[in-house]
Formats: sequence, structure tokens, C-alpha cells
Amino acid sequence: MGSLSFGSSQTGIGLDIGTEHVRVAQVKQTGSGFVLTGYGRVDVPMGAVADGEIVDSAAVSAAIKELWRVSNVRGKEVSTGVSNQRVIVRLIDLPFMERGELQNAIQYQAQDYIPMAVEESILDFQIIGDYMTPSDEHMMEVLLVAAHREMIGNTVSAVEGAGLKLSRVDVSSFAIVRALMGDSLEVLPESEGEATAIVHVSSGITNIAVVERGIPRFNRISSLAGSTFTQAIANVLNVTFDEAEDLKIRVGLPDIDTGASGDVSGVDPEYVQVVHQSIEREVNKFIAEVRRSLDYYLTQTSQVRTITKILLTGSGAQLRNFDHYLEKGLQAQQVTLGDPLARVQVASSIQQAVHDDRMGCVTAIGLALGGLQS
Ligand SMILES: Nc1ncnc2c1ncn2[C@@H]1O[C@H](COP(=O)(O)OP(=O)(O)OP(=O)(O)O)[C@@H](O)[C@H]1O
Ligand SMILES: [Mg+2]
Repeated sequence: MGSLSFGSSQTGIGLDIGTEHVRVAQVKQTGSGFVLTGYGRVDVPMGAVADGEIVDSAAVSAAIKELWRVSNVRGKEVSTGVSNQRVIVRLIDLPFMERGELQNAIQYQAQDYIPMAVEESILDFQIIGDYMTPSDEHMMEVLLVAAHREMIGNTVSAVEGAGLKLSRVDVSSFAIVRALMGDSLEVLPESEGEATAIVHVSSGITNIAVVERGIPRFNRISSLAGSTFTQAIANVLNVTFDEAEDLKIRVGLPDIDTGASGDVSGVDPEYVQVVHQSIEREVNKFIAEVRRSLDYYLTQTSQVRTITKILLTGSGAQLRNFDHYLEKGLQAQQVTLGDPLARVQVASSIQQAVHDDRMGCVTAIGLALGGLQS
């Protein structure tokens, strides 16, 4: 549905529902660009969201209500994101056809590509481009998204239960891409065949995406994420999850060249060793998982492709020395922290809130930017 905007500004609200936190971002379009005018984050009760899915809608609604109470966000129409095993993204090649024709055809074609029943899914697609095969067949590339109807229903319930209206549901990784680099081809330095991978690490889920010229072409999720590292420490040291969380953040991984530790004052030196080792073990599994995903992407495509850059986002990516471990383990040319504020200016009233959640805010911002378009 087209939306009306009055005056020179329009606003979008992005709501990011996660395992540990719900976050909201409000973005306003002004003559001089996008301005982040509202931001907030509140805790989600343990177990209300698991594996990226809402398990307890009422608890999530209550957290969202609290979010509206504590943040300066105003408005009731929100865009949210989904990222779990029941939302599937596939890049498929089909014989060329017009958009209207594809709309019908996709209903019949989709089942070949998704592991869920089409009747139980909501389908969406985007035409990415077309090309000629060596034997002169006209083909098209289509990005197919399938989301389980019931899973989307749970999201709608949680949002409506908080007295809000859900105006758009996005794939979370598409929102992350939008916040980091926009939807415009011009902003990207990549040339044909060069791709950027985005690895977003939060609490229960890691999102791995590959983008070429601003267009997401691959998305996979993994359950190896921030809480995996914490749990590993808790198991080995036999401490509580909260204690392990504190150790993870303070100790992290050692310097990859010197083996030196960060701020470990007051931490038993024996603990430091054990923390290093237990995180290292999990991070090595994590690296293997990312590598498998990226290799899969590269072997899927017919053209020669390379991933020249990896951008890390998400609160979990702040793990000390994590970027260096990934760079070495993945033999990537460049692994850097992505900038969630790349496309927005931040209003002064929320500078502190955004700063305190610097790597975690990216999804909500991308969802808000997406909301401006619909
Ligand atoms: N400085 C830090 N170093 C290491 N890990 C950190 C740091 N700060 C936060 N984290 C980790 O980030 C994770 C929380 O991330 P986030 O708040 O993005 O999760 P979420 O969005 O609620 O969950 P999800 O999207 O996975 O459902 C936790 O595992 C936490 O330990
Ligand atoms: Mg998250």
C-alpha cells in the first residue's frame, strides 16, 4: 500500500524482537538525510523468544509496551524483522517471464526450493536481474522468501498485543544490509563478482548474509552465537550464566599474536586461561560454520566470485579480538566491524542510548529505514 507523507518529513519505526532484547528505532527522513530521532532497548524475559521465534507472545507484548514507555518513540505503525528456521531465502533461476506471470508461477515453483509446505507459507519475491545462457535462453534471477504463516502470526500477535500495528515484516538480514549499505547500487565499491559477507552475531542467532552490489543473495542462520560462548564458559567453570557472561565480556579472546589478555584485573589468572580456551573452542566451531556457509554460496554460483570483505555486526561481535580470529580463520582479506550508523545522523537526545547499544542497534535501524519506503 502506498503511504502518504505530509510536509517534508516522513517517519519509519523499526522493532527488533530478540532473545535477550527488544529494540526500537525511529527514523525521520529530512531534507538533509535520515535522522534517528528515537531509540530504546529493554530486556526480554528468559525463554519468551527462542531460536529466533516468539514462544510467549504475551511476555513479548509486555516488553514492547515497556519499550514504548521508556523510549521517546512515538507512533503505532511498525516494521519488524524475522530470522529463524521458518523463514527461508533462496536465490533461484527461472525462465524469463513478466512480473505478473511470475506472481502466479511462483506459487507452483516455490515448493521445489523450500523445505516447508507452500500452503503453510507466505511467499514473497524480488526479481534481481535477467541474463542469457550460452544456448540463448532468457533466464531471470529471483530472490524467493518464504515465511511460515503461523510463525508470522505469532509476531503479529505479539505486536498487536502491545497495542501497535504491524505494517511490514522484513527478513532481518535484509534490514541489516539496508542499514549498513543501503539499497542503492551506487554506494557500493564492489565490482562485478565481488561480494561482501555480513555476519551478525547476537544472543541466540547468528545471521550470515552475502551481498553483491547492494543486493542480498544469500542468507543463512546459525545457532552458534553470543550465548553459546557464555554457556561454554559456564559449563567449564561451573559458574552461573551471569557470571560467565561477565567473564566473557571482560576476558574475551586473547590477542591473536601475543596471547595477551585484556582487562582481567581481579580475575583469577587460572580462570583467564580457561575462559580463553573455552571461548576459543566455540569460536573455532563458529568459524567453521561461517566458512561452510560462504563456501556453499561460492560453489552455488556459476560465475567466478570472491568474497572480499566481511562486516561484523551485532552485540556479540564485540567479543574481544573476535574480528582478528575471524580474519585469520576465514582467510578473508578484510574483517571489520560494520557501522550501524552509516546512513543516519543521531538526534542529540538519544546519543547516549545509541552509543550504549552501538553494535546492537543495526537491525532496528534497518527496519525503520525499510518502513520509510512502504
Ligand atoms: N562486549 C561484549 N563482548 C562480547 N559479547 C557481548 C558484548 N556485549 C554484548 N555481548 C553479547 O551479545 C549478545 C546479546 O546480543 P543481542 O542483544 O543483539 O541479542 P538479541 O538481539 O536479544 O538476540 P537474538 O537476535 O539472537 O535473538 C549476548 O550473548 C552478549 O553476551
Ligand atoms: Mg537480535
